[in-house]
Amino acid sequence: MPKTIRFILNDRDMQTSLPPGMVVLDFLRRDQRLTGTKEGCREGDCGACMVLLGELDGDDVRYQALNSCLLPLGDVRAKHLVSIEGLNHPGLNPIQQSIVDEGASQCGFCTPGFVVSLTGFFMDSRDMHIQEAVDEVAGNICRCTGYTSIRRAIASLIEQYAVKLKGFKDRIKSLVDLRFLPSYFLGIAPRLKHLKEMQAEAEAEEKPVLLVAGGTDLFVQKPDVILNEDIKFISSRKELSGINLSHNLCTIGCATPIEDLKNSPLLQKMFPRMSDNIGLIASAPIRRRATVGGNIVNASPIGDMIIFFLALDASLTISNGKNVRRVALKDFYKGYKDLDLHEGEILEYLSFPLPAEASLFNFEKVSRRRHLDIASVNSALYIQKQDGTIDHARLSAGGVAPVPLFLRRTSEYLSGKEITPAIIKEAVRRAGQEISPISDVRGTAAYKRLLLGQLIYAHFMTLFPGIKVEDLI
Ligand SMILES: Cc1cc2nc3c(=O)[nH]c(=O)nc-3n(C[C@H](O)[C@H](O)[C@H](O)COP(=O)(O)OP(=O)(O)OC[C@H]3O[C@@H](n4cnc5c(N)ncnc54)[C@H](O)[C@@H]3O)c2cc1C
Ligand code: FES
Ligand code: FES
Repeated sequence: MPKTIRFILNDRDMQTSLPPGMVVLDFLRRDQRLTGTKEGCREGDCGACMVLLGELDGDDVRYQALNSCLLPLGDVRAKHLVSIEGLNHPGLNPIQQSIVDEGASQCGFCTPGFVVSLTGFFMDSRDMHIQEAVDEVAGNICRCTGYTSIRRAIASLIEQYAVKLKGFKDRIKSLVDLRFLPSYFLGIAPRLKHLKEMQAEAEAEEKPVLLVAGGTDLFVQKPDVILNEDIKFISSRKELSGINLSHNLCTIGCATPIEDLKNSPLLQKMFPRMSDNIGLIASAPIRRRATVGGNIVNASPIGDMIIFFLALDASLTISNGKNVRRVALKDFYKGYKDLDLHEGEILEYLSFPLPAEASLFNFEKVSRRRHLDIASVNSALYIQKQDGTIDHARLSAGGVAPVPLFLRRTSEYLSGKEITPAIIKEAVRRAGQEISPISDVRGTAAYKRLLLGQLIYAHFMTLFPGIKVEDLI
C-alpha cells in the first residue's frame, strides 16, 4: 500500500499517497494545478521549475531554492514546500516589483523561477553581495528579456534591502515585515515539528529498494522507472552528512551535498581554490541536492568529485547494515559503470589523508561551456614536495578512459623527480600512454588526448608560477 507523505504546501497541510518517486514539478502542475511553476528542460538546466524547500534546523526553518523537476515528492516529507503561488501577496512583493520596474520580464516564462531563486537568496544569504545573488540565479535561463535588466533588478534589490536585512536577527520575520514573504511563514516552524514526529513513525516501516540521494542523476536518467520503485531517501540519514577532521584524516559523509564542500571553511583552508573549482559544477540549486556519494556511485568517467578525490588518495567506507569494509576509491571502478559495490550496500563515508604541509593541489576542468557544463576532460594533481623535488605525486583524469582514471604509472614516474620542463613534458607523454579516450559529443579522442596534456601543463604552471608556457612548448 502506498505510504502517506505529509508536508506543508504553501499555507496548506498536505497528505498524499502519490508515489514518492513522482517529481514535485508534476505534483504541482498536474495534481495540484499550480501552474505558476514552469516546466522547461526537466533536466535541472533551466531553472523554470524552481521551488523553495524549508526544513527544520533546530527551532528555525532553513529554506533552499531547488529544481522541482529533479526533486522527488518523498523528499518533501515533513518539510515546507513553497511554489511561486505561496509567495504571492494581494500586490507585488519587492522582488516582483523590482522585475517590473527594471523591465526584466517579457514573455514571463522564466520569471517565477527567478523570483523563487532570489527569494531563496534573501532568505539564506549572510553577506548579500550582488555577485552572490547573480551566482544564485546562474541556473535560471531567460530566453527573451536578456540578462542586463535582470541584473539591474537584482542590483536595485540589494541596494534597497541588503543593509536592512543584515541588521535583523530573525530573517524570516524581517522578510515578512518587508513584504518579501506572506505572514503565514511565521507559523511554519511549529507545524513542521509536529510533522517530524509523525514522519519518525512512517520511517520505521520502510522497506528500502532504490537509494535516492540528491536524485540529480537518477531523475534525469530514469524518472519513469523510479516512479514505481520503493525508495530509500538518503537525506533521512543525517549522520551521513558532514565534514570532519580527526586522526590525520578528513572524513566526508557520502550524503553531504556538494554545495557544503564549496562552503566548508575546513576544506577551503586545505584547498584554497576549492570554492572556484566546485563553482564549475552545475548550478547552486543542483549542488544543494547533488551528493558526494551520488557522484561516486553514478560513476561517470568525468564525475568532477571523483577526479578531485582520486588525486587525494581517498577511500570509501561501505556498509550493508551488518558489515563495514573499506575500499580505495581508485579500486572502486572495475569497468564502465561497473563498481565494487554489492546489492544492499551503501557508501557511508569518503575519507582522505590530510595533505602534508609541503603539498600542493590543483584541479582543472575543460568543458564546451565554462560554467554549468560537464567536463570534456578534467584532472587533478596532488604533489608533496621537498625543496625542488617531487617527493610524491598523484594524478587523476576524467574523460580519457571508460572509468575515472588514477594515472598510476605517470604518478610513479613523477615521484622523486626534480620539477623541470623536461620532466613535465615526459609526464605528459607517459600520461598519453595510460589513457584510452573515445570520440563522442564532448570531443574527438585526439582532442581529449591533447586536452589532458594541456591540463597537466596547467597544473604545473599553476602550482609552480616560475614555469612558463614557453618552457613547455
Ligand atoms: C544540471 C546538472 C548539471 C550537472 N553538472 C555536473 C557537473 O558539472 N559535474 C559532475 O560531476 N556532475 C554533474 N551533474 C551530475 C550530478 O549532479 C552528480 O553526479 C551528483 O553528484 C549526483 O549525486 P546525487 O546525490 O544527486 O545522486 P542520485 O541521483 O541520488 O544517485 C546517483 C546514483 O548513486 C546511488 N547512490 C547515491 N548515493 C549513494 C550512497 N551513499 N551509497 C550507494 N549508492 C548511492 C543512487 O542509487 C544512484 O544509483 C549534473 C547534473 C545535473 C542535473
Ligand atoms: S524544468 Fe528546467 S530546471 Fe527544471
Ligand atoms: S522573460 Fe521570456 S524567457 Fe525570460
